[in-house]
Amino acid sequence: MVVQVQGESLVDEVVVLKDVEAGLDGVVAIHSTVLGPGAGGCRLWQYADGQAAFADAARLAQGMSYKNAMAGLPLGGAKAVLRRPRGDFDRAALFRAFGRAVARLDGRYVTAEDVGTSVADMEVVARETRHVAGLPQRAGRPGGDPSPHTALGVFVSMAHAARRRLGRDLDECTVAIQGVGHVGEALAHLLHGVGARLIVADVDSDRVARVAVATGADIASTSQILAAQADIFAPCALGAVFNAESVEAMRAQVVCGAANNQLATPADGERLARRGILYAPDYVVNAGGIINVAGEYLGWTPEDVAARVEATGIRLAAVLDHAEAGGLPPHVAADTLARAAIAAGRVRAPAMV
Ligand code: NAI
Repeated sequence: MVVQVQGESLVDEVVVLKDVEAGLDGVVAIHSTVLGPGAGGCRLWQYADGQAAFADAARLAQGMSYKNAMAGLPLGGAKAVLRRPRGDFDRAALFRAFGRAVARLDGRYVTAEDVGTSVADMEVVARETRHVAGLPQRAGRPGGDPSPHTALGVFVSMAHAARRRLGRDLDECTVAIQGVGHVGEALAHLLHGVGARLIVADVDSDRVARVAVATGADIASTSQILAAQADIFAPCALGAVFNAESVEAMRAQVVCGAANNQLATPADGERLARRGILYAPDYVVNAGGIINVAGEYLGWTPEDVAARVEATGIRLAAVLDHAEAGGLPPHVAADTLARAAIAAGRVRAPAMV
């Protein structure tokens, strides 16, 4: 089945998930399996209706296809969205039922945790199917918390972007980090390790204080971090950070951070470009986590994972080269290259069988 979403995003396959007894009500959207099994996390969230859940799954599945393609992974893109039951519910029963549904897809979909789901939920899923990642790490194997890998990919990308836009290494830069959670905190430590100056903000005052003490960072309020006097701005909290108003307020010349969907609309990517701010596309630089998940599922060594994460800076360079050569904003260049990688896979696929 091929489904059109908003006239352009194609989803190859939609699987409706329903098990009334177990409280399972959701959808798996598989955007593409051209490059490999459709991989993407399982979100548990409240949605107004099934259509809203489907629209979110389709949008997120396309995002995973692009992210996986740009990371050079042998994976397609997909996402599961489950509607959170109202009130109390039997979590184990729900994820057992979800695991059985994933098993029935026979490897066309690989799941992992996402917003609203946890490692413990994936361990329940793993009792029903092997097409699941994000499980606790076993000695000598990839797995566990993906955040340090995400932070490393952002860090190497930032080093490239700083040299390219500012002509400087990170030890001569001030970096403003919005959100010092799992990724932001790890990024702060990496930057502190190479001598960068830091400004940090978080709604959690204990967290921000802890990071500031450990890294010598200045603290900014959450309302001021975007306009902080910094060379580089690293969004590591929320999506939709950039809109007409916030782009005007920016003082940094480089944006490079982990948050997903940083641009409220594609027009905001153009706004950043018009202001001369180099935007490192979010899904290109934040792929370290999915690279680790891929390594866990595909049986790579931790060294394979590390080498691929460290190559994130090289992949960003290719996107920015393509943007410059074509006079495109970086977010458009990234989408173009991702679509081309998937199309090339589609051409190659018949010859491989
Ligand atoms: P997290 O939940 O551990 O950290 C987010 C931090 O942002 C929290 O400390 C929170 O208090 C803070 N925050 C929330 N609202 C804020 C605001 N208005 N201003 C400043 N701080 C605020 O999440 P995590 O795992 O660190 O992820 C950060 C971002 O990166 C998210 O957008 C996530 O989707 C994205 N991402 C994370 C990956 C990972 O490996 N963890 C992989 C790829 C993307």
